[in-house]
Amino acid sequence: MAFRSRRGFLKAASAAGVAAAAGHLLAPFSRAQASGLGGAFRVDLDTRRTLAPLDRNIFGSFLEHLGRAIYEGIYDPGTPLADGNGFRTDVLDEIRKMQVPMVRYPGGNFVSGYHWLDGVGPKKDRPTVLEKAWDSVETNQFGTNEFLAWCKLAGTTPLMGLNLGTGTPEMAAALVEYLNVEKGTKWSDLRRSHGIAEPYGVTNWCLGNEMDGPWQIGHMSATEYGEKAADAGRQMRYVDRNLKLIACGSSGPRTSTFLVWDREVLEQCYEYVDGISLHRYFDNTTETAGNSAYFLALNLSMERQINQVAAVCDYVQGIKRSPKKLWLSFDEWNVWYRARNGVDVDGQGRQAPHLLEEVYNLEDALLVGGLINSLLRNSDRVRVGCLAQLVNVIAPIMTNATGMYLQTIFYPYNWALQYARGAALQVLVEPGPSYEVPGYGKVPYLDVAGTLDADGTVTLFILNRDLSNGHQVEITWEAKAGSRLLDSYVLTGSDLKAMNGFDAPKRVVPQAAEKPVTSAGSTKMEVPARSYSVYRWGA
Ligand code: AHR
Repeated sequence: MAFRSRRGFLKAASAAGVAAAAGHLLAPFSRAQASGLGGAFRVDLDTRRTLAPLDRNIFGSFLEHLGRAIYEGIYDPGTPLADGNGFRTDVLDEIRKMQVPMVRYPGGNFVSGYHWLDGVGPKKDRPTVLEKAWDSVETNQFGTNEFLAWCKLAGTTPLMGLNLGTGTPEMAAALVEYLNVEKGTKWSDLRRSHGIAEPYGVTNWCLGNEMDGPWQIGHMSATEYGEKAADAGRQMRYVDRNLKLIACGSSGPRTSTFLVWDREVLEQCYEYVDGISLHRYFDNTTETAGNSAYFLALNLSMERQINQVAAVCDYVQGIKRSPKKLWLSFDEWNVWYRARNGVDVDGQGRQAPHLLEEVYNLEDALLVGGLINSLLRNSDRVRVGCLAQLVNVIAPIMTNATGMYLQTIFYPYNWALQYARGAALQVLVEPGPSYEVPGYGKVPYLDVAGTLDADGTVTLFILNRDLSNGHQVEITWEAKAGSRLLDSYVLTGSDLKAMNGFDAPKRVVPQAAEKPVTSAGSTKMEVPARSYSVYRWGA
């Protein structure tokens, strides 16, 4: 309650100041960065009130045969950074440390023209082909078995994409047989002849990619695709009953067929699938016209998209009288708008061209933080999510011949991977100071999400969309107070357009946040302007 008065803000600010003077802070954000105090937010935290157990797969990622994601990204044989398999050890070590739970592969648009048989067997016999989604050359030196070996080393699980563009349901089922049947059949014995005795047991599959898009190889109508997905699903399930199958939903809410596509597809294949895909790339040009405060509210539009697609799923469930509720797979999401035109998306017949090499700034990282909050808040329905992508292509990790650096968006994503564990909390935030955003009404400056781990650790993720002012936060612990602070970090800066690069890899990195002060069941802290913060308290 103290934070409802201006007096309260000053009290907390000075408490934080005392802590700083006592040397408790490592490298706190500079107060000059937070030009003023904008108001107070009351957060009610009740650790008995959880939303759903968190499926860590909502923080998966994506690797496509596109540009330098695979070649030069994770696979660079014959170079000093490669291991005996040709895998880049620096990238592999980083991804293992990140604990990325799931990686979607091999595309993306690429998959709709991909023949998986070209990428298995002795490397010397694999064909070099023209790749038509990105106008590149594909050598097939990295294929399904290399990917699955890499997944094992990276400590991640595969989300396999299927070609339902030029590919057939028969070859989709053949791939399941190649990967998951032990022995004694045509395709399982082919795998064994390739030196892999044990089946992989790949469970999660995407039935095609963005088949609603006129840009997609093999693009077709919703009804045609829905029938093809049903046929593929039926054949695949004959081979392996344990599969989790994801139908291709709309590739974004701006398409003219948004939601209608989803409904028509599900009317054909509802009984054969477990989830439906959503895709979304955010930009600070078209809708927002460069207005950064508006841009930082766009995670609310992701939530709107989630609610709308979930409503369509439930509608089809209703008309089918089905007991099954579909889950959502947000298997492509990120900021992407700069490297999106002309040469940036056209490989011009080259192998491993520089494509979609978006360089991210601070405001992009802040929105990525907000998008993570939105995924957490919807984790009762969204069971899979993939930051698109992981290396070099619209990615948190960038490589060159001698090393790698971490983009700004790496940091919020890595916090989600490290700290969002257990169950998503229903965080109640009392309406605090807000601003007007076209189409969204009054948007609160602070966006708060949280998790509760099995050991009682509480984690809060806080986006401050206010470009000029810091805000006070007062947490009321409704159950047990989280008195033991474990970590507090903030990503902020004076320049929203600041980027990392090989020349300055640490220009935008997290700093230690001011330590919150807890007494009598309530915790007070201040989040600076233009920031994304994480706080963790032990039980
Ligand atoms: O992630 C880049 C591309 O974006 C993917 O290939 C496609 O699915 C989407 O349009």
